[in-house]
Amino acid sequence: ITLFKFISYMSDFPFPPLLQGVQYLVENGLLEWRAESVAEFLYKEEGLNKTAIGNFLGEREEMHLKILKAFVGLHEFSDLNLVQALRQFLWSFRLPGEAQKIDRMMEAFAARYCGCNPGVFQSTDTCYILSFAIIMLNTSLHNPNVKDKPTLQRFVSMNRGINNGEDLPTELLTKLYTSIRSEPFKIPEDDGNDLTLTFFNPDREGWLLKIGGRVKTWKRRWFILTDSCLYYFEYTTDKDPIGIIPLENLCVRALQDSSKPFCLELYNPKGQKIKACKTENKGRVVQGKHQSYKLSAASAEERDDWIDAIR
Ligand SMILES: *[C@@H]1O[C@H](CO)[C@@H](O)[C@H](O)[C@H]1NC(C)=O
Ligand SMILES: *[C@@H]1O[C@H](CO)[C@@H](O)[C@H](O)[C@H]1NC(C)=O
Repeated sequence: ITLFKFISYMSDFPFPPLLQGVQYLVENGLLEWRAESVAEFLYKEEGLNKTAIGNFLGEREEMHLKILKAFVGLHEFSDLNLVQALRQFLWSFRLPGEAQKIDRMMEAFAARYCGCNPGVFQSTDTCYILSFAIIMLNTSLHNPNVKDKPTLQRFVSMNRGINNGEDLPTELLTKLYTSIRSEPFKIPEDDGNDLTLTFFNPDREGWLLKIGGRVKTWKRRWFILTDSCLYYFEYTTDKDPIGIIPLENLCVRALQDSSKPFCLELYNPKGQKIKACKTENKGRVVQGKHQSYKLSAASAEERDDWIDAIR
């Protein structure tokens, strides 16, 4: 998951980063390319960019349509009124700007709402039309640029006949209107990929020398240990790390090395290559090539402190 966030954050690919991240997870066997698994990942994983989720779910390809359906299916709308359900739905991603995408998402929403609440509307279309009317009402009531604020009477009359030619109960429309008037829809921020917070309160940080995976030279790197991952940077002030080593399944030990003192080594006890990644020049994210990571500290004491912290 952390690798995923890193990739979505760092990649400079022409594709939407989220798509890259999902592809990476799928190619590396960390996520199944099944609508249900991808939808659950997008729905449950915290800290993903909600604008990117909205764009991803709005794509027209068949697989994306299935993922959208599964994603909407993870929402539980039973016994919620339409505004309550919309509040939940619109909080789980950011509506994309494109009309066709919005349309697909609102259709999926309406189908799910009616599935959870049979009998409230005559048809899914009614639910779909009313949902749009509510989103517009939200803007009219709360956007300061809209001077002409619709009254309840106008809202009720605007929605006349939308229930397969019949009127919806005034009681229902009143409840929805009042709810929106007292509180607009909240829209999630798209700051999901910002790693800054991740580095805010590290378990340990400091300079270490690190030997390259391919080119065997020692380079000074600023290391941050947090969230069970080791990040390294070129400078202490860099916002973006050069690389990330998730520590899950790894061991650490002190090591004697002929070229540098106070060495420690990160290795996989099963002898496998370490799953990690780094950015090459131009910001391209590549998988690390390390069988093990060899690091050198400034003193025996620092080495032991790093080993303790990593353990
Ligand atoms: C609802 O209104 C608020 C306040 O104007 C706005 O920030 C938000 O984007 C609107 N929500 C939708 C779904 O249009
Ligand atoms: C979130 O994703 C959108 C769309 O891909 C992108 O424009 C935006 O910059 C991203 N936000 C952050 C904080 O990365």
